[in-house]
Amino acid sequence: MDSLSVEHLTGIKDLTKKDIEIIFKTADAFKEVINRPIKKVPSLRDITIANLFFENSTRTRLSFELAEKRLSADVVNFSAASSSVKKGETLIDTVNNILSMKVDMVVMRHPNPGAAKFLSERVDAKVINAGDGTHEHPTQALLDSYSIRERLGSVDGKKVVIVGDILHSRVALSNIYCLQKLGAEVMVCGPTTLIPKYIDALGVKVEHDLRKALEWCDVANMLRIQLERQDMKYFPSLREYSMQYGLTKDILDELSKELVVMHPGPINRGVEITSEVADSDQAIILDQVENGVAVRMAVVYLLAAGIKRE
Ligand code: CP
Repeated sequence: MDSLSVEHLTGIKDLTKKDIEIIFKTADAFKEVINRPIKKVPSLRDITIANLFFENSTRTRLSFELAEKRLSADVVNFSAASSSVKKGETLIDTVNNILSMKVDMVVMRHPNPGAAKFLSERVDAKVINAGDGTHEHPTQALLDSYSIRERLGSVDGKKVVIVGDILHSRVALSNIYCLQKLGAEVMVCGPTTLIPKYIDALGVKVEHDLRKALEWCDVANMLRIQLERQDMKYFPSLREYSMQYGLTKDILDELSKELVVMHPGPINRGVEITSEVADSDQAIILDQVENGVAVRMAVVYLLAAGIKRE
């Protein structure tokens, strides 16, 4: 069996191109499984997985839970809002208590950048990062590139623009790493205040004019403005942002070609994208969600191969 070069999935930065290709090949097989009448395989019948969510989530949490159940793993779910974290328990104490109940793998979303890596170095379980603050969201980037590959045949040589709040976006950073490893050219587009100062070090193009960015690209990935992470005002108003960077059908119709439109969700309809565009045939937003289950099945399955079964 093909195996990954990593013990944990804490970020795309640590993966090789071959790792990503192995994940995609495995996801192809699982995509076939989840489209069968019986959507379950017994692969992880003896594995227990804890999904620890210290931050809100709809897609990622449900997608991991479904992926784990489709692989026949035993699953426990933890939400910080209803836990003893509220009574002051530390991350390590919380996780070690959960692991003492014989848990083999932890999927964790946490508001602090580096939290998944920190955990992976301190606990005796496989760790998957389901989003760590403004740092990385590796499975989102994998499902995004997988969806581009599905729609356009390959990621290699494609031009992808990521539009919006790049500064606060873990989706942007993981996508940049993943797309570049697969041979795509990447551009970021947004107001100067939402483009990080270190962006040049990432080897991406920068464009502040949405129309020029869209003329350049094959794929536009529209990001949400993360007001919950913004500690100051980065633009005058959402209305002004939307006028400069919101994707509308009129803008798409003015282009000389047809683009693939993506969004990781949750969507702020009428801000970064109109409903007309989000619900159009050019948008692959629900394909991304469907592919998320197959890609997460692949990641969980491949990392579980390294777990010792006694
Ligand atoms: N794309 C994404 O991470 O969505 P959730 O926050 O709902 O998990």
